[in-house]
Amino acid sequence: MKTVHSDIKEILLTNTQLTGRIAELAKEIDVDYAGKNPVLLCLLKGSVPFLGKLCEFISIPMTYECIRVSSYIDTTSSQNVKIQNINLDSLKGKDILIIEDIIDTGITLEATVKYLYSIEPKSIEIMTLLSKPSRRQVLGLEPKYIGFIIPDAFVVGFGLDYNENYRNYPHIGILKEEIYRD
Ligand code: PRP
Repeated sequence: MKTVHSDIKEILLTNTQLTGRIAELAKEIDVDYAGKNPVLLCLLKGSVPFLGKLCEFISIPMTYECIRVSSYIDTTSSQNVKIQNINLDSLKGKDILIIEDIIDTGITLEATVKYLYSIEPKSIEIMTLLSKPSRRQVLGLEPKYIGFIIPDAFVVGFGLDYNENYRNYPHIGILKEEIYRD
C-alpha cells in the first residue's frame, strides 16, 4: 500500500510538537484578544489544519473567515496576487489575525496585508506556524506570532503540499529529493 509516509526523508516537527506549540499560541490569542472578538483569517489552503487545531485551544469568542490568495509572475516579471472569497462586511472595523501555515519570501503576505488595509479593519496582525527567514524577499513585515523558525528545506505535511499532495501527512516532514527532482 502506497502511503504519504514513505516519501518523507525526515520528520522536522512531530504532530505532538505542533500541537503543543499551537496550544501555546492559542493562549497568547486568549490574552492579547480578550474582549476583542477577533476574526481569524485563514489563507487557503495550507493553513486549514493549523486553523482547526488553533480553534480547539482558543477559549475567547472569535470568528473565522477563509480567503484564497494566489500569486503568479506575469510576463513582465512583476508579482501579482489574486484574492478570492472575501466577505468584506465581516472584516471592516475588526481586529484581524491572519493565519498562515508558512512564510517563505513574504510576497503572498505583503499583498494580502496591503489589500486588507483597504477594507479599513481596526487592526491587522500575523500569525504563522512556520517561518523560513533565510528565504525572505519582503522586509519589514514580520509576523507578531511565529510557531517555529525552520531551515530552508522542502517541507510538507500538516497542510503543506507538494503538487497538492502530502497535506494529510500529520507531521512536518522533509520530502525525499527524488520526489520533486524527477
Ligand atoms: C503557500 C503558503 C503561503 C505562501 C508562502 O501557499 O501557504 O501562503 O505559499 O509563500 P511566500 O511567502 O513565498 O509568498 P500556496 O500558494 O502554495 O497555496 P496553498 O496554501 O494552497 O498551498
